[in-house]
Amino acid sequence: MSSELNKKYIVQPGGKLQGKFRVPGDKSISHRSIMLGSLAEGTTQVSGFLEGEDALATLATFRAMGVEIEGPENGNVTIHGVGMHGLKAADKDIYLGNSGTSIRLLSGLLAGQNFESTLTGDTSLSGRPMRRVTDPLAEMGASIDSNEGKPPLKINGGSKLKGINYVLPMASAQVKSCVLLAGLYAEGTTTVKEPAPTRDHTERMLQGMGYKVEVDGDTVTIEGGGKLTATSIDVPADISSATFFMVGAAISEDSDLTLTHVGINPTRIGVINILRLMGADITLSNERVTGGEPVADIRVKYAPLKGIDIPEEQVPLAIDEFPALFVAAACADGKTVLTGAEELRVKESDRIQAMADGLEILGVDAKATPDGIIIHGGPIGSGEVESHGDHRIAMSFAMAGLQAGGTIQINDCANVATSFPNFVGLASDAGLEIDELDD
Ligand code: S3P
Repeated sequence: MSSELNKKYIVQPGGKLQGKFRVPGDKSISHRSIMLGSLAEGTTQVSGFLEGEDALATLATFRAMGVEIEGPENGNVTIHGVGMHGLKAADKDIYLGNSGTSIRLLSGLLAGQNFESTLTGDTSLSGRPMRRVTDPLAEMGASIDSNEGKPPLKINGGSKLKGINYVLPMASAQVKSCVLLAGLYAEGTTTVKEPAPTRDHTERMLQGMGYKVEVDGDTVTIEGGGKLTATSIDVPADISSATFFMVGAAISEDSDLTLTHVGINPTRIGVINILRLMGADITLSNERVTGGEPVADIRVKYAPLKGIDIPEEQVPLAIDEFPALFVAAACADGKTVLTGAEELRVKESDRIQAMADGLEILGVDAKATPDGIIIHGGPIGSGEVESHGDHRIAMSFAMAGLQAGGTIQINDCANVATSFPNFVGLASDAGLEIDELDD
């Protein structure tokens, strides 16, 4: 796995981003395509699948549970669904690497099986909170052992689940999806109410496969005991991966970049809303719906940015995009303030601290607060920063190079492969002077 063979990035200062290209497939939708395609009746064809380590961990898990899956080849995957009750026990522990989405969604799905499964992960995943999923699953009747609320998770299976009415304590699509997936196997009705809108790919894909999902404002309801029908799934390019290029183009003079076929689901476009509030020049074209998900081409041209108070309602809609948005804030005129984003502290790394520390090293005035950050825009210098093995921290600091006064070295970058294979190649082609070295 990537964490054993590590990498560092060396980014030379200056440059601009230009061109028209497609970034890799959406990670969230790729995970869900394998999970639901496996449980469906019939053959599901997936195109645009993300061949990154996280989504591949999910794919390997379903193969280990007896699902015949062809590919991935150029983003194409064929899943021979086994139906809701066709999975078999894996013959060993299931290793999910860095992938929080895999472990949290699988917990719900596996709680409904009549066999036992053990889910493990890398150092980062092994430190992440899992009570947020084991608590509601226990309420549904599942039996799960954890390491004091952290992985490994031993999902005992064989429990008779019952539907619950669950009010999410935090805005989390992973927890919402976990409870809904368990709800497929539960007796009666499962209802999840969320404090703020979060990504709704699970709900959309369930509906696309013929499962009745009722959405009423902040509440999602399903009945257990239904079935899924295979379909074809066109995975759009990941707006979270597009973000690095959007920010890079927004901060470097003379940039003009178009990212094609990007998913613009309304629950994911916080980054566009926030960058526009900062003054970014972003235009969408070719808007269409494919496989139940809206997509568009996104063009970003350089324009001077200004600091803002980020509206809290945008936080869940941009939850994975903040490391890159902090780089935009560092390049903006004035102060940017983020609040209401304590969830950033429990991602692949503590993203508030990791970004504040790195920006400070680069000479930017960035102060972490318990639930956010305060950044005063100013010149970015040079220096050596730590990504803490967090893919999004690594790619965000890479883009900072476009506005830096000197070379930036970024350590611990191998995990970029979890979400964005060939980031360095695409970034170089677009105009970033970046080299990847083995550590
Ligand atoms: C995801 C949900 C988000 C996000 C993660 C992917 C998903 O996590 O950060 O990268 O696919 O459901 P939370 O739901 O925990 O906020």
